[in-house]
Amino acid sequence: MSDVVHGRPRVPAGTQPGVRQSPLPASARPARRKKLARVRGLDWVPRPVNLAERIERAHVLDRPIRALSGTVVRALPTGPRTDALHGVPFGQPAHPALVRLPLGCWTSAVLLDVFRGSERASRVLVFAGVLGLAPAAATGLADWSALHRDQQRVGLVHLSCQAFAGLLFGGSLAARLDGRHRLGKGLSAAGLTCATAGAYLGGHLALRLGAGASHADQVSHLSGLGWHDLCRLESLPERRMVRRQLGYLSLLVYRSGDSVRVLSDRCAHLGGPLHQGRLVSERGVACVTCPWHGSTFRLADGRVVHGPATARQPSFEARVTTEGLVQLRPRP
Ligand code: FES
Repeated sequence: MSDVVHGRPRVPAGTQPGVRQSPLPASARPARRKKLARVRGLDWVPRPVNLAERIERAHVLDRPIRALSGTVVRALPTGPRTDALHGVPFGQPAHPALVRLPLGCWTSAVLLDVFRGSERASRVLVFAGVLGLAPAAATGLADWSALHRDQQRVGLVHLSCQAFAGLLFGGSLAARLDGRHRLGKGLSAAGLTCATAGAYLGGHLALRLGAGASHADQVSHLSGLGWHDLCRLESLPERRMVRRQLGYLSLLVYRSGDSVRVLSDRCAHLGGPLHQGRLVSERGVACVTCPWHGSTFRLADGRVVHGPATARQPSFEARVTTEGLVQLRPRP
């Protein structure tokens, strides 16, 4: 039979004119799709991620982690110095900003080597990068000591890569000062490779495992505008922190007489349950200390008093109606 009907190509039954058809028979398509998905789709994991995920589960690292984090925690008691290392005064972790100095300097030094730039400039950049490693390492160690164990495993390998990169750049500087420029350039290239691998793991730690991000509920997205009824005032115990639910939001509620303080219950650091924490007084102000890593927030407005959290805890304005109903709305 002809494939042309009245000057138009014949359209097979069950197909739509104008839509491009697969050359495979309909029965073969699901199998082919499954195979493609297996080869380069759902089962396919890029190798660096695969490696990073294996590090997350590498229990063999737990012993050195216990020893090192114990030492760091003993060396950094709660106080202004530790808070500064976490970045509390800046409102976000200090480590990501500080790592730019060594990484930027070292990358620039290697680029100068590759494009035959000034040897003196390369030397200065390598030296500045090695100097910049100390504050980056101090802030990183402070943050690392208050992470979950899977995060700490990735963090330990990240730290080792950067420490090794620092050694290679230190060796490069010594070689350059000694007049062995070829060796110096080779060590710099090796150091940058190592630092880049470490930076990848740092990205995995921050972006995939959420270290450094705020884990508090996104209150503005989860609660509507205006006042919301929470509960009756007499149902709240006096001077005890309790958890209450407002839609999707878990709240820490604290009542003292007719005054009610309300914070989001998920700690901004890593999501710990704040209502299970301790009530403390900091310079005469009522605060809550998280049960997981000891971040301390003001009950009145969620401000960070002590890290490791750096982001403010979302807080709510509360009022009691004449009928004894507690109402609240998110603080701007
Ligand atoms: S979860 Fe770490 S301090 Fe709260």
